[in-house]
Amino acid sequence: MSTTTTTVNRQWLLARRPVGGVTTDDFRYAEADVPVPGEGDVLVRTLYFGYDASQRIWLTDDGGYMPPIQVGEPMRTMGIGQVVASRDAGYAVGDLVEGFMSWQDYALVRGDGPMPLRALPPAEYPLSWNLGVFGVGGLTAYFGVTDGLKVRPGDTVVISAATGATGHLAGGIAKALGAKRVIGIAGGPEKCRWIVEQAGYDAAIDYKNDKLDERLRELCPDGVDAYFDNVGGDMLDALLLHMAPQGRVLICGAMSSGYTDVKLQGPTNYMRICTHQLTVRGILLFFYADRLAEGAAQLGAWIREGRLWVAENIVEGFEHAPALLPTMFTGKQPGKLLLKVADPER
Ligand SMILES: NC(=O)c1ccc[n+]([C@@H]2O[C@H](COP(=O)([O-])OP(=O)(O)OC[C@H]3O[C@@H](n4cnc5c(N)ncnc54)[C@H](OP(=O)(O)O)[C@@H]3O)[C@@H](O)[C@H]2O)c1
Repeated sequence: MSTTTTTVNRQWLLARRPVGGVTTDDFRYAEADVPVPGEGDVLVRTLYFGYDASQRIWLTDDGGYMPPIQVGEPMRTMGIGQVVASRDAGYAVGDLVEGFMSWQDYALVRGDGPMPLRALPPAEYPLSWNLGVFGVGGLTAYFGVTDGLKVRPGDTVVISAATGATGHLAGGIAKALGAKRVIGIAGGPEKCRWIVEQAGYDAAIDYKNDKLDERLRELCPDGVDAYFDNVGGDMLDALLLHMAPQGRVLICGAMSSGYTDVKLQGPTNYMRICTHQLTVRGILLFFYADRLAEGAAQLGAWIREGRLWVAENIVEGFEHAPALLPTMFTGKQPGKLLLKVADPER
């Protein structure tokens, strides 16, 4: 296998710190030399970029739970790549790997980051699934539903951002664990139809057109036992009023905030946590770094049994990298959003 297919390293660099919603003007195109790996580095040719709402947090001054991306640096992403040079004995030239990368053709990556750089075994499923159902979205859905919410038979479960990379799988996982009723919240009638017909949900609430309170009363007359919260804000506040006594809430994300700042206003109905003895728990996938293989194995088993439905939305072409990021907040198709940059070399 040749070490490189081109000597030009195309990059998308952060041009300025976004104010409010992220836009394409916040990035600039550049070309650089292919970097040379130092001790412990692995040089990969990037093949796929995954899109995650948390990328917007990394663009804030604070960075949230990771160091902020600095102006002039390539944009960070979860990605799939192929090793072209390695100074880490754990990774060999030709290996396909998944982990933290950046928006460039060639990226130096490390095996010792907060999430392991995973060497991907040969598999019958599409390579891109390693960023979706076997990546951040699927694994967060798995650990969120099984461990965070501890969903059990008979539960009534509500999941927001139900068409998202995490949400579209969380519903099937809750059903696989025996939940009595799984209700998804999505924007618009088409997406609501999609989660019921394509993602195994029992019912949907259209947060853009329905009256949330009314629909929750109708669909969950005995209250919500477990709420998987991807949205925060007013939606979380509304859900708190519909939780069953001793219900469980998992804080996974806050899409409604747009992630333009790391400081967010908490819910006003928070006394419900006291009066209904609710458990509110957070999740960050980093804390499950040593259990990822277990999660992927169970997700794979459920897919084979027809209990989970994987949805992807793959766009092709390096040039589209910046344009896709704002769509995480302004509207995207159901499933995991991915950019395909290149095919692996055999
Ligand atoms: N804690 C962790 O370890 C972890 C890991 C992965 C993801 N997350 C979080 O999980 C959440 C979902 O991420 P994802 O990758 O699964 O989703 P995604 O594929 O990026 O989709 C985002 C979804 O959010 C919905 N959405 C956007 N703005 C909204 C708003 N204002 N109100 C209600 N819904 C809104 C959209 O649904 P509609 O089209 O229906 O509006 C869309 O389906 C994010 O907050 C992300 O940060 C956390």
